Amino acid sequence: MEQQRKRCFSAIQPTGQINIGGYLGAVKNWIKLQEEFDCIYAVADLHSITVRQDPALLRRNSLEMIAVLLACGIDADKHLLFLQSHVPAHTQLAWVLDCYTMYGELGRMTQFKDKSAKNADNINAGLFTYPALMAADILLYQTDVVPVGEDQRQHLELTRIIAKRFNSVYGDVFTVPEGKIPEVGAKVRSLADPTKKMSKSDENENACVNLLDPRDVIIRKFKRAVTDSEACVRYAEGKDGINNLMSIYSAFTDKSYEQIEREFEGRGYGEFKLAVAETVADGLKPIQERFCAYMSDKAQLQQICRDSAARADALAQKTLRKVYKKVGFAV
Ligand code: TYM
Repeated sequence: MEQQRKRCFSAIQPTGQINIGGYLGAVKNWIKLQEEFDCIYAVADLHSITVRQDPALLRRNSLEMIAVLLACGIDADKHLLFLQSHVPAHTQLAWVLDCYTMYGELGRMTQFKDKSAKNADNINAGLFTYPALMAADILLYQTDVVPVGEDQRQHLELTRIIAKRFNSVYGDVFTVPEGKIPEVGAKVRSLADPTKKMSKSDENENACVNLLDPRDVIIRKFKRAVTDSEACVRYAEGKDGINNLMSIYSAFTDKSYEQIEREFEGRGYGEFKLAVAETVADGLKPIQERFCAYMSDKAQLQQICRDSAARADALAQKTLRKVYKKVGFAV
């Protein structure tokens, strides 16, 4: 991969399945950006052990996530797709960046506050320094653009601060990256409680639609989606449930909110929910079919990861060597 085009980096954790939040908020953009950028995509297995994982499940989920991403349209011939733990430079740079990230900054991260409230018996150091590892992921590749959902905005802002702080001491070592957050789908909300984001760790299984859910499950989950009592499909403040369904429908069909309002004028929520469900199920079907094809050849998946990791390693070493030299490690 020659550096003529600008670089794009993003990652996703292999904790459970990818849901339509992660798909619409991030992965759909990952696919699009392949046309314009040299893209580097990782499955963030290192990040996922900040909460306890079942090792066998983590191993399986990591490879499945690679297959899902390929099925969504990541082109691993032209771009890179690998497991974060296969490129040791991520952890090596993370340690250096830990020393340029302030305690107060990490303590202000809303994700840290949320996750430590949820895992009160396991508020470990990794959970706290998580954003410095994320900064390392990004800065290692001299990344120009980072496609993420709304919930990662704060981490990205901190990455920019860390990069600028380091550059101000040592000269222009890191490219300062820009975030890319989509207009529609940046924050897909839970179907069971539309005041919360849709999350793969939600205990209520009806809250979250996974990319690999069968059609009947998708339809059941949308039918049970929490809405309001107005019975009018329109985008408005206070209608979180309907707004959420409209944004999902809009992201899958490219229709504007006005078009959707016109399409469902005088029709009830039941009909609207079914239309959203069927559109999502139809949209996911080809991804699911390709996923099954990829999963039938695990050796090929492992080969793709290894090839990409070797190429990523070569790029990462360049930055890491520069950083080591700048901070004064003897060579
Ligand atoms: P993760 O695995 O939680 O989510 C992956 C991507 O999906 C987006 N996303 C959503 N977007 C809209 N609505 C939702 N309900 C929703 N849920 C998830 C996330 O914003 C994210 O873009 N820390 C990251 C992974 C990571 C990373 C990185 C990302 C590690 N290193 C470097 C960018 C750059 C995370 O846990 O994402």
